[in-house]
Amino acid sequence: AAKYRPFVPVQLSDRTWPSKTITQPPIWLSTDLRDGNQALIEPMNVDRKLRLFHLLVQIGFKEIEVAFPSASQTDFDFVRHLINHHLIPDDVTIQVLTQAREDLIRRTFESLRGAKRAIVHVYNATSPVFRRTVFGLDRAGTIQLATTAAALCNQLAAEQPETEWRFEYSPETFTATELNFAKEICDAVLDIWQPSPDRKAIINLPATVEVATPNVFADQVEWMHRHLKWRKNVVLSVHPHNDRGCGTAAAELAQMAGADRVEGCLFGNGERTGNVDLVTLALNLYTQGIHPGLNFSNINEVARTVEYCNQLPIHPRHPYVGDLVFTAFSGSHQDAIKKGFAAQAANALWEVPYLPIDPADLGRTYESIIRVNSQSGKGGMAFLLERDYNLVMPRRLQIEFSQVVQQTMDASGKEMTAEHLWQLFSREYLQV
Ligand code: KIV
Ligand code: ZN
Repeated sequence: AAKYRPFVPVQLSDRTWPSKTITQPPIWLSTDLRDGNQALIEPMNVDRKLRLFHLLVQIGFKEIEVAFPSASQTDFDFVRHLINHHLIPDDVTIQVLTQAREDLIRRTFESLRGAKRAIVHVYNATSPVFRRTVFGLDRAGTIQLATTAAALCNQLAAEQPETEWRFEYSPETFTATELNFAKEICDAVLDIWQPSPDRKAIINLPATVEVATPNVFADQVEWMHRHLKWRKNVVLSVHPHNDRGCGTAAAELAQMAGADRVEGCLFGNGERTGNVDLVTLALNLYTQGIHPGLNFSNINEVARTVEYCNQLPIHPRHPYVGDLVFTAFSGSHQDAIKKGFAAQAANALWEVPYLPIDPADLGRTYESIIRVNSQSGKGGMAFLLERDYNLVMPRRLQIEFSQVVQQTMDASGKEMTAEHLWQLFSREYLQV
């Protein structure tokens, strides 16, 4: 029997509910090594990039944006290293980013020489403010920029037939672009690429800066999903950033609105407030009974490697992974969790209060769940003493001893471990 199931609000379970859910995982694209990397105080060197690449492969990503090869020699060298040393598994496709500029596109194809398979990701900004202020181009000029780039991709791909090519186009600043213009430019690029069912093109809709509530982003995605001329031959991708703190919601609603693919980073690294967090998205699916196709069964190892590669700490309250997310200090929570675990043994469905996921599914242990501080009640300390010292206290003794524990912690202001509790108990009751 399934361990997790979709959430259904109790009062509404007698109706068809909810109106929409995500029923399958998206195609995942990790841009840790590109968008994530470009946002680091110190971008990764080749060694750190390699370590992260191997981790991404191990987790199960099949599409990985590995570099912006025309932007830095390190990125160019990294792509060469992957290809020259045959480090890309057969079922993994690397993706590289380039601006829609001739010299940069040529350099990008040069970096990919000899690759078995690759996605070339071309972008230019399309919003009015960029057209006016940054490029000094009108709509027609902006389309011309994109279509010239698209045509050059066709030409260079034909010159390197040893590689199986796929193309991706991003109207950067999509969320601030007039929808009819976003469609017009994407259609124009697709007219040049002529995608087919066996060789779909990727249209990627970035919330380069998150500017509105997630439902507005989803409406924009849905409009493109309904109106794109080549929709059947297109993988519709989204690329949410997190400026309003809603990247996860934006990606989830975008999938319900028609997106097939999500670009993001592990633990939400990326420009400014980050790219959407792929770990949270994947595990949100998992806890609704949908396997994300990514493996986070040793999430601590993933977290430590990512912290090392990015040289950035993960917040202790980060969903699913933070050091404190499987820890309860408050007495009522501890008591409910303890009862939940006791009942869980007979239950195929995961139903432990306050814990949306079984920590064991992430390689975390029950042991780290219960901790005792001055907010805790008798339940937590009884749990720790029973678990570590086989001490089963009758209820009256629990109440009495919890007052001793409380006084000790009120005085010290510090958390108590099972060992501290045992020492205190021994002193009070065993005259040790
Ligand atoms: O956020 C963004 O718009 C990007 C594009 C280059 C896809 O990273
Ligand atoms: Zn981005």
